[in-house]
Amino acid sequence: MKARREMESSRRPASKPRVSVIGTGYLGATHAAAMAELGFEVVGVDTDPAKVEALGAGRVPFFEPDLPDLIAKHLATGRLRFTTDLADAVAMSDVHFICVGTPQSSTGQAANLDYVTSAVSAVARSLTHDGLVVGKSTVPVGTADGLRELLAALAPEGVAAELIWNPEFLREGKAVDDTLRPDRIVIGGASPAAESTLRALYATPIAGGTPVIACGLTTAELVKVSANAFLATKISFINAIAELCDTAGADVDDLADALGHDPRIGRQFLNAGLGFGGGCLPKDIRALMHRSGELGALGVVGLLQQVDEINMTQRQKIVDMAIRMCGGSALTARIAVLGAAFKPQTDDVRDSPALNVAAALHLRGAHVSVYDPAAGGTGKRTFPTLTFVDSAEAALQDADLVLVLTEWPEFVSADPESFGKIVRTRAVIDARNCLDAVAWRAAGWTVQGLGRTPVREVAEDRSLLFA
Ligand code: UDX
Repeated sequence: MKARREMESSRRPASKPRVSVIGTGYLGATHAAAMAELGFEVVGVDTDPAKVEALGAGRVPFFEPDLPDLIAKHLATGRLRFTTDLADAVAMSDVHFICVGTPQSSTGQAANLDYVTSAVSAVARSLTHDGLVVGKSTVPVGTADGLRELLAALAPEGVAAELIWNPEFLREGKAVDDTLRPDRIVIGGASPAAESTLRALYATPIAGGTPVIACGLTTAELVKVSANAFLATKISFINAIAELCDTAGADVDDLADALGHDPRIGRQFLNAGLGFGGGCLPKDIRALMHRSGELGALGVVGLLQQVDEINMTQRQKIVDMAIRMCGGSALTARIAVLGAAFKPQTDDVRDSPALNVAAALHLRGAHVSVYDPAAGGTGKRTFPTLTFVDSAEAALQDADLVLVLTEWPEFVSADPESFGKIVRTRAVIDARNCLDAVAWRAAGWTVQGLGRTPVREVAEDRSLLFA
């Protein structure tokens, strides 16, 4: 009886919806802080007590520019807190954002949905009053329908619960800005009441001009994976063209600039090089391939297989190029690797092409010394057998070959003359096509990239490299 009274008293409509965010990784921690910045009372929930303790003390357990300041700001305003107590967080909130991970399953290409399923189940069981469950995690199309059934089956009697999908498009390294000022807001499968709740939550970016796309549940699920598949396709397209540039003696960067001026194409995601990695693009295209195969959409499977194949080939091309530049064998060569993160402005090394290449050369017998401005710690945990050092200079000491694998600004703006004084041989592979090749060559370096090899060097390739 008492429980029922408590339930009914808490059913009163909140003047402002209170927010719980389930999962406090890159997505959840940023979303929680952004919701607090937008003026709402937010509680972030995670099963990992160490993470909750760190976030509650204003320490962000990963590198994300601007996020520590935003979290500290709202711990201080009192609008943001973190807990491991999901039931308490759900009881105190009206809108529950599901922000847990959907990693690639350990047994195949499908996404592992265990965390999403258990988060929705736990929220459903903990509801003490009407609630709106909002999925943000990236899921295979059709998942949300099943989660709706789960929610209906597990929510306590007398409690109205609705599940909608509102995918997130944030990029690591720009997560705060992407969350506060998104390109678009997609609201999938919402009733008029749920849509107006989300419009209230996102009132600030909407007033700032962010368009809202209200669509069906399955469309919303597909938007996110299709966006990532398109970005991946764009990168693999330019990397395929880079191969052609190498054989024909063209420059892929000039070509991308010229293509990019066409507004139908656009310049972004046309940077040729080592290809894509990270926690999203690789696993999302694989999950999409898998799901498309299940649904019989075989054209998608064929297209994305090529995209994936081209992408993985880029890593092998850099390994092969390094071995060639070491005279045909990496054994005993001293190789300096600049960059471990999958891209700059992050310490994330999940499926990092840079670490993949570094590890492959290490296994081929090279002495590999890796430096990354932010990802040394995460890199070391992932590949404990690799040597990580604290500065570019330390990595370059007596190197026979330098590999620039992540385009951190400190590598892009490095002085080739002073770097040249540290290495044994002035030879560099610019795997992100980010160096000023003219300046480096003027300082006496042999510079190799992908798709940017001048005609003269194509012709003289071997003699030039082994000189
Ligand atoms: C991506 C999507 O961009 C984002 O919208 C989604 O929410 C999550 O996945 P993220 O994983 O943070 O974001 O990285 P992104 O900036 O997309 O870069 C992915 C990879 O592509 C990186 O390894 C990057 O180096 C590579 N890349 C990017 C290229 O190789 N060439 C390019 O032109 C652009």
